[in-house]
Amino acid sequence: MNISDSERVSAVLESLNYKKTSNINDADLIAVVMCSVRQSAVDRVQGLMQKFEKIRQKNPKLKTVLTGCILKRDKKIFINSFDCVIDIKEIKNLPSLLNIKNKIRGKNIYLDIKPKYFSKFSASIPIMTGCNNFCSYCIVPYAREREVSRPAKKIISEIKNLIKNDYKEIWLLGQNVNSYKNKNITFPKLLKMANMIPGNFWIRFTSSHPKDFNSEVISAMATGKKITPYLNLPIQSGDDKILKLMNRHYTVKDYKNKIRELREKIPGICLSTDIIVGFPGETKKQFENTIKLFKNIKYDLAYINKYSTRHGTAAAKLADNVTIEEKKRREKILTAILKQTALENNKKYIGRRVGVLIDSEKNGRLFGKTKEYKTIETKSNKNLVGKFVKLKIIDAGPWKLKGNLL
Ligand code: 5AD
Ligand code: SF4
Repeated sequence: MNISDSERVSAVLESLNYKKTSNINDADLIAVVMCSVRQSAVDRVQGLMQKFEKIRQKNPKLKTVLTGCILKRDKKIFINSFDCVIDIKEIKNLPSLLNIKNKIRGKNIYLDIKPKYFSKFSASIPIMTGCNNFCSYCIVPYAREREVSRPAKKIISEIKNLIKNDYKEIWLLGQNVNSYKNKNITFPKLLKMANMIPGNFWIRFTSSHPKDFNSEVISAMATGKKITPYLNLPIQSGDDKILKLMNRHYTVKDYKNKIRELREKIPGICLSTDIIVGFPGETKKQFENTIKLFKNIKYDLAYINKYSTRHGTAAAKLADNVTIEEKKRREKILTAILKQTALENNKKYIGRRVGVLIDSEKNGRLFGKTKEYKTIETKSNKNLVGKFVKLKIIDAGPWKLKGNLL
């Protein structure tokens, strides 16, 4: 979402004749699109401020802008260090804050600002923003406010335009894509509409809340040829009591049933998840339930997060009583299990022929992703970035498959 927001910030800046520089030291303006979801991300902005001061010493004209997900309380801290702190929803007003005549007119909804896509073959389209779920640890409902779903017509027309321009991969974005609803169009319907657009491209989406992820979405995924067999389904904890304290509204059993149905209807689907280790009061026994779940599901990928208190959330009232050392230990244990299960899953690819979208090149080595979101590496002197190719997989590690071009 932040990358997608940055693409809109870039569009606003380009409308003011700013040009992108590859060297931050040459910049006349630096815009930071920040994230408040974890304290570590907020701390990173503090670190950047010192760097900007050094650049300002050489270029006193430098302007710095802070936008993205910013909490009210952090705004007060950052306002002293940035020339301008602006809510992402107000980004169209950036020119007036910089005392530049605004060239963007009639754009009231920030998501309607046509983004300056950073990639020429993969694009992210927000379909909804905000969240109504109030998971007890999470700041997003406060930072991004309530859910708003964009009209399907606008989303479909954006995809069509991108496909006309030869884009190969479309990511549909939202804090909880499964609660997308605009008029009578729900998320599975939107998936079907996107799948019907003619062209050779893949549709991905993120992120899903297990409580709203239902059979209808699974059917849309199973029948839609363009919808990739990859799903990020954040479980957050493998313990029912912790899930309740997290206000997640599902049990481990509910989650496992959904995974079973997914694997039945979409054989070979790859799965990733989000986990929080060290939620307030999480005992070693409760963490063992997360270990059990990890071993049971055999994820392909996982985003393992150490709990940090977010001021103003319900969980902030609970004592953050798992030490940082213990959080690190739990993170390490899950990473080790993930490494094993991912390797086990990846070995099954050896000898298979797979379709890949090449996304980068470095010293004669090409990197990309399969439809299942597996990272691949191959060798070629040809410039195939942004192209679909076929590979025969010859080797597998936990985080990467190696293959030969066919
Ligand atoms: N501490 C640690 N991780 C968090 N996440 C959200 N809030 C917190 C928090 N307070 C994680 C969740 C979510 C991901 C985007 O960030 O796992 O799925
Ligand atoms: Fe945060 Fe929960 Fe909403 Fe996800 S669903 S953004 S974790 S409140």
